[in-house]
Formats: sequence, C-alpha cells, structure tokens
Amino acid sequence: MDNTDLLSGYLLTCAAISLSVLFWFTTMKDQLFAAPIAQLGDFCFDEKVVEVFPDMIQRSVPGYSNILSAIGMMTARFAQPGSNLYDLGCSLGAATQMMRRNIAHADCQIIGVDNSAPMVERCRQHLATYKSAVAIEIRQADIQAVEIENASVVVLNFTLQFIEPAERITLLRRIYAGLRPGGILILSEKFRFDDADVSDLLVELHLDFKRANGYSELEISQKRTLLENVLRADSVDNHKQRLQDAGFEHIDLWFQCFNFGSIVAIKDKGAVA
Ligand SMILES: C[S@@+](CC[C@H](N)C(=O)[O-])C[C@H]1O[C@@H](n2cnc3c(N)ncnc32)[C@H](O)[C@@H]1O
Repeated sequence: MDNTDLLSGYLLTCAAISLSVLFWFTTMKDQLFAAPIAQLGDFCFDEKVVEVFPDMIQRSVPGYSNILSAIGMMTARFAQPGSNLYDLGCSLGAATQMMRRNIAHADCQIIGVDNSAPMVERCRQHLATYKSAVAIEIRQADIQAVEIENASVVVLNFTLQFIEPAERITLLRRIYAGLRPGGILILSEKFRFDDADVSDLLVELHLDFKRANGYSELEISQKRTLLENVLRADSVDNHKQRLQDAGFEHIDLWFQCFNFGSIVAIKDKGAVA
C-alpha cells in the first residue's frame, strides 16, 4: 500500500465520518421556500431554519462535507495541548463535532458561538448525545463580542459572510491576536468573482448543483432574494488581503468548488504570542 492509497483511505473515512455527522442531525427536508412567499424579508436563522438546516446546507453548499472532513484533519494537526478551539457561527455544531472527534489532547476546550437562540439550543442538545473527554461550551453570543484567547484552531465556516464587510477586519485582528504562534484559522465562504464570465459560469454551476439536489426555480429565487441583504460575498483576493492586514503570515486557498471555498490562515510559529 503506497501513500496515495493511505490518503484515499483516510479521505474516504473522513467523508464517511462527516456524512455520519450530518445524518446524526435531524434529516428533515428543506421545503421552506417551496411555496410562493408574499413578503420576502431578510433570511434569518430562526426555528424553521433550524429544523431543516442540515439538509439545507448540504443541498446548497457545494463541498460542505469535504470541508467538514478537512476541518477534522486540520484540527488533528494544529490543536495544541491545553489550548482553546473556537467554532464561530457554530449553527448545529457540525464543525464543533468534527473538531471534538479529532483532537488528540483531552485538556483542550472547544468553544462554539452562535447568536441564534434556536440554533444554540438545538446545538447543545445534539452535542450532549455524544460523550467525549474534550470539554465543550456552546455560547449564545455575537462572535464580534467574544474574547478569543489561548487559541490553536479557529473555524469560521460560512459565517464571516454574514458580518458587516467593514467590521470583518476587526474580528480577524482579534482572532489573530488570540491565536497562539502556529495556530490556524479556517475560513470558508461563498466567493464573488470580478471577471464577469467566470462569475456567470460559477454562479450557474452552483445553480445547477442546487437543481440537481432537488431545489425548484422558485425555491432558488426566493432564497436568493432573502439572502441578498444579509450575505455579502468577497473575492478570494479581498479575503487574502484582509487576512494579511489582520497579521496572518501564511495564507492560501486550500479548497474551492464553484463559488464556494475555504482558506487557511496560519500565525507564524515564530510570531509573538
Ligand atoms: C451558514 S451558518 C454556519 C454553518 C456552520 N458553521 C456549519 O459549519 O454548519 C451561519 C451561522 O452563523 C451565525 N451567525 C451569523 N452572524 C453571527 C454573529 N454576528 N454572531 C454569532 N453568530 C452569527 C448564524 O446564526 C448561523 O447559525
């Protein structure tokens, strides 16, 4: 067996684990926008969304389960003994659970943060069904107000896109300051693209992905209208520049599928703590 076989075996195992994480959640089908809605306001993470969230995110975000698997793999490499790991915008705790399963040090603590009360309540219920030596605290709070300290891994899995663009740099600076040297931020986002042809292609491919997952044209268009004012996507270059401005020394895109992807930003091992 060579290294490629080992890696494929590992990736398959990770994919199976992340799928089991998704099935561990309620699997109610997302039909929230299947019927015409008279007044389309702004999208919010309320009780109705909580009920269908695992199905919604899996059928809407290309590469979601691959990203969850890799969050587990990166946690295994980057979690430092006695440190904190943060899942900012944790929703139902899918990334929290992947981190918990992959931490090699029982003296670490995972802090999941979300400002949606129904998300936090359901997240706590899910996580309580699993026993683990690693301590977990799920806080209902604004991620912009949470103190980041003694951190080795910070995850922003499709959350920064909901923060006011002008306020993103402040949050990233606080994350950088709260990371130990050698710590990592995993930042997954929906991206926008400056080149109109590339943008059209990737947006269309994403729509094909949603159609293939059973969403109707009405569901797609109503959800797009609801998200218009609350999800503000940046380009990959904008993200990289902002991460550099926040202090991160090592930054790159490690995953992309259509207009969704994930970036790693690492605080240099020799940086001041
Ligand atoms: C797309 S979901 C994140 C998915 C989740 N990270 C996962 O991997 O399954 C975005 C989450 O961010 C939360 N959120 C948005 N803005 C927030 C803020 N300012 N503070 C805390 N949570 C926030 C929402 O309530 C929602 O649960």
